[in-house]
Amino acid sequence: MVNFESWNPTRVVFGADQLHRLPELLNELKVKRILIAYGGGSVERIGLLSKIKNVLSSFSTIDFGGIEPNPQYSTLMKAVELARNSDVDFILAVGGGSVIDGVKFISGAIPYPGEPWDVLSKKDGAVFEKAIPFGTILTIPATGSEVNSGAVISRSEMNEKRTMGGPLFFPKFSFCDPTVVATLPKRQLANGIIDACVHTLEQYLTTMYDNWLQEREAEAVLATLIDVKGILDNPSDYKLAYNFMLCASHALNGNLRCGAVTDWATHMIGHELTVLYNIDHARTLAIIAPRLYEVQFEHKKDKLVQYGKRIFGLTGTDTEIAQNAIRLTEEFFQSLGVETHLREYEADTTRLIQHVKTKFTERGWTELGENGTIQWPQVETILNNCI
Ligand code: NZQ
Ligand code: ZN
Repeated sequence: MVNFESWNPTRVVFGADQLHRLPELLNELKVKRILIAYGGGSVERIGLLSKIKNVLSSFSTIDFGGIEPNPQYSTLMKAVELARNSDVDFILAVGGGSVIDGVKFISGAIPYPGEPWDVLSKKDGAVFEKAIPFGTILTIPATGSEVNSGAVISRSEMNEKRTMGGPLFFPKFSFCDPTVVATLPKRQLANGIIDACVHTLEQYLTTMYDNWLQEREAEAVLATLIDVKGILDNPSDYKLAYNFMLCASHALNGNLRCGAVTDWATHMIGHELTVLYNIDHARTLAIIAPRLYEVQFEHKKDKLVQYGKRIFGLTGTDTEIAQNAIRLTEEFFQSLGVETHLREYEADTTRLIQHVKTKFTERGWTELGENGTIQWPQVETILNNCI
């Protein structure tokens, strides 16, 4: 049994046709001048940006578009400069995990007196001590960034993808409207299901931590994600979209980690595949997770058995159930059209092992996983097996 503390102050406005409530929430926060931040153009194409601007006609706003998937430090610093020169007192993120994460960084960097990269690289314990408040309008269910205080920021020229977060970085509010799912391409729908699935597995597929309620909640998210798979062919199905969006938020709003033993090594290794080969975040997880479960088989076996029985209805010996649970997880990812081997994305993997070794050594990541048993030899095996 694990002690825990839980706190999540983000106000979630969930459901269709709620955008008219945006001015009310902003007025409660006494907002005056808003930076509207978005990505590479989808919010314009789907007509969401113009809807938001109509609703915000009584507010002073400025725009910052062009935040790319895996948001880049250099792009975000341009937004920081714009906001500093424009007296912005609130930021509205309109987008997916990349825009929302980017806004979390921007909100901390605006009032930061030093070099913001120091915070991401954790140089001399640098931290953001203040942040400009922000809210989100979610356009893609996947990361859960709309309901958590974490962010992942990339800096391609340094081959880096770094995390940041803390209590300052919870959105003040998030509008989660499942109708946005209708506009998503299959690739992003599949990515979203897999990211939410692996977020749940990172907090569940560890040891038997005897928090029965939390385990059942994780299983509910996993089973529901399997149920919503039909969204790939019916993105306009509101029932599927509603449940999909709810799952993605629940997977990483902090609830599942309460009283749980968590892993997160799949994410830590996966981020390096994005850095090296620009593979979508969720797809890196589909590549790493099955191989990591195989390498950690003995440590995760009891939980794999519970997962196999409860999610896939498996029977047989414990070893058979645990092995089949890994196989069926991988097959589920593949059934979404997502390849689970690195060679299917990238022919030249010669830099892989040395790159990951260098980065993990620099960061002192010597003992990963729920019990510190993912050390360099295990990481190397996972990487070799994932090719
Ligand atoms: O840039 P635009 O034109 O907006 O297009 C985006 C982007 O190309 C498009 N898109 C978004 N909403 C759309 C849409 N296209 C059509 N209709 C819509 N309604 O989708 C593409 C991907 O968007 P992105 O925001 O990158 O996707 P996702 O939400 O998967 O975010 C991935 C990022 O989040 C980080 C990842 O590392 C990655 O950088 N993560 C953040 C986490 C967190 N903060 O808690 C946890 C995750 O594990 C993850 O690491
Ligand atoms: Zn993720």
